[in-house]
Amino acid sequence: MKDIINILLLGSGGRECAMAWKISQSPRLGNLYVAPGNAASYGTNVPLNPMDFEAVRQFVDTHDIDMIVVGPENPLVEGIADFFEEHPVKIIGPCREGARLEGSKEFAKEFMVRHHIPTARFMSVTEETREQGMHFLESLQPPYVLKADGLAAGKGVIIAPTLADAKDTLADMLDGMFGGASDTVVIEEFLTGIECSVFVVTDGEDYKILPVAKDYKRVGEKDCGPNTGGMGAVSPVPFADNEFMDRVTRQIVEPTLKGLKEEGINYKGFIFLGLMNVEGNPFVIEYNVRMGDPETEVVMPRLASDIVEIFEGIADSTLALKPVEEDPRAAVAVMLTSKGYPGTYEKGKEITGLDTPADVLRFHAGTRRDTLGRVLTDGGRVMALVALAPDIAEAAAMAKAEAAQVDFEGKYFRRDIATDLVD
Ligand code: AMP
Ligand code: GLY
Repeated sequence: MKDIINILLLGSGGRECAMAWKISQSPRLGNLYVAPGNAASYGTNVPLNPMDFEAVRQFVDTHDIDMIVVGPENPLVEGIADFFEEHPVKIIGPCREGARLEGSKEFAKEFMVRHHIPTARFMSVTEETREQGMHFLESLQPPYVLKADGLAAGKGVIIAPTLADAKDTLADMLDGMFGGASDTVVIEEFLTGIECSVFVVTDGEDYKILPVAKDYKRVGEKDCGPNTGGMGAVSPVPFADNEFMDRVTRQIVEPTLKGLKEEGINYKGFIFLGLMNVEGNPFVIEYNVRMGDPETEVVMPRLASDIVEIFEGIADSTLALKPVEEDPRAAVAVMLTSKGYPGTYEKGKEITGLDTPADVLRFHAGTRRDTLGRVLTDGGRVMALVALAPDIAEAAAMAKAEAAQVDFEGKYFRRDIATDLVD
């Protein structure tokens, strides 16, 4: 590959902002374009829809793009990597078949069973097997986990407290609660433990593990209230110690990569393992085929190595030669959200406090600039404030202080991010 490369990053959230920040530090970078991007300015925004592959190709051809980095899952599940298979541009992200690990919960569960990867007991149900599904629910203990098979914008998982609720939910899902995404429903045994997110990069042969993170999904403090895209994140995760990570590697990462190879899936990109630590034993809750958000906002600052080199390793099957080093400091991200999120919320509020110099990173998520150059809110998750410090307690305090300083009408954030991991 060339010494200096031009990169097109697809996406517009906090995850892509953190990636753009990291990519922009690489001595290997020529131009960085972000499509469609937000109000952050680590690259040049281009008004491209990542799902319009033909438009993406035209941009690649006219702007001498060497590499496309795919942030979100939808273009991968729709086959963007296959679309560019014959094209010289390198794509960071798996092919359509590999993306089924995230695109179909049923496929993911059956894959885990085929390859003896620890996961919750389950049954996959369709209209034809509705009655058996109801019986399977009766065989489980409460609470009950029901998942739409297909992509449902992160909302397709329902935890039902009672058997009656679970049966109603199964009926609603099969009757189209999530459109076609819930034509198949995966019912799972509920696992009790603490979650963490492990990120693997692979070139199809070798793999490297990025810093481990934990996200905070519930909107309210002490993990109460509805699920969100993520209200904050922390890395490292003290309970993901050497012994636990050894189990993750042997019982999950290696069998997953071996399984992909055995099934003839040439997987190049990220594998995100959503894990439950059940008394020291890791179980896979879900696979994703992209980085997590807001986990990326704490993983990128803790990655001490050049990410463009890692991307090149993924694309050219030279990952084994690429260092993946961790910054020993802790990172904590606190997400600012709009009033009402994850329900309905207003956009277009001016964000203030961004002129103050900060020792904290400000990763834009749902933001845009107006014609006067002011930064406005443009989504439910608005901005991640990320601190690096010698320990989690200090990083959490710094991120929280910055979350109080940056402001807009209706701002909300959780004040307890990462405090559960501080003794
Ligand atoms: P997912 O979209 O698969 O990440 O599920 C959303 C959330 O539901 C997860 O982050 C967990 O908190 C919870 N969850 C999913 N599956 C299970 C399970 N089998 N046992 C307990 N909690 C689960
Ligand atoms: N933070 C979880 C996710 O990105 O799916």
